[in-house]
Amino acid sequence: SRKVIFDTDPGIDDAMALLLLHGTPNIELVGITTAAGNGLIDTTTRNALYLAERFRIDVPVSKGQGASLDGVTSSPPVTIHGRNALGDIPLSAVHKKLDPRPAQDLIIDLVRANPHEITLVATGHMTNLALALRKAPDIASLVKDVVLMGGAFGHHDARGNVTPAAEANFHGDPRAADEICAARWPVTIVGLDVTTQTLMTDAYFENLRQHGGQSGRFLWDITRVYMMFHRGLGLDGIYVNDASAAAYVIAPELFKTQKGAVRVSTEGVTLGESVQKADGRVYPPGDWDNRPSVQICTEVDAEGVRSLFRKAV
Ligand code: BDR
Ligand code: CA
Repeated sequence: SRKVIFDTDPGIDDAMALLLLHGTPNIELVGITTAAGNGLIDTTTRNALYLAERFRIDVPVSKGQGASLDGVTSSPPVTIHGRNALGDIPLSAVHKKLDPRPAQDLIIDLVRANPHEITLVATGHMTNLALALRKAPDIASLVKDVVLMGGAFGHHDARGNVTPAAEANFHGDPRAADEICAARWPVTIVGLDVTTQTLMTDAYFENLRQHGGQSGRFLWDITRVYMMFHRGLGLDGIYVNDASAAAYVIAPELFKTQKGAVRVSTEGVTLGESVQKADGRVYPPGDWDNRPSVQICTEVDAEGVRSLFRKAV
């Protein structure tokens, strides 16, 4: 079985990813750390505790950083994920308590306690992972692998979703994303190139609502606001962003990948833009040299992801 730490900003598709990881027998969630993004950090942390309690996911939940490495607090996308970042469903009071450690410390402790066993999955602003790396560079060689939902690399014409250049998770903390891609650990990026290739329609969620028990009904409820936003884009379904990253952890064979150094722009009009120099391409010597090779996803079996998710629910 695979041990996973889930660093997340729930978030509708974050909740989907959590249910997918939790519902997969050979995945062992060992911790949840919260990130800013779909809500301010207090909101996403409350949501993470709520989800853990509601779905009896009995693992430590640690609160992460609210501001990016450069000190920026982004305003949440309330028209996409709702004001409470869970599609504005009513949320009952939460009793589960936070782990006392800040997110980066929980990450460091769990990685050191489980050498070469932990997969880090990050689906919000990636500040916590970068802080963990800065504080304990040794974790790079102790982690099994790192899977990020973020970025857009132009495959299938994927561009930014918060600016023409940048995807939201990378834009929220571009320096963190860049430092994660510069570290010597195996990184796979599940970006908009593939996540926008998988849609889940109302008919799909209706089926989950009918046959998916408590989780199925919950998924129907939280996706109403998200669905409306996607209809506004002219789509008949929602993009499957974070759950695609979870799907990659469970079934990497559903994806095609390409290797090469990745950098994330930390300033100017391209802030948060992600660029890959595919391995084998040769350029004059420069600051792309000596960056590790990162794997990005370029193709996905969308039906495979949908059926994996349906089974987990
Ligand atoms: C990413 O941004 C957030 O809104 C989603 O939860 C996802 O992680 C997509 O760009
Ligand atoms: Ca997210």
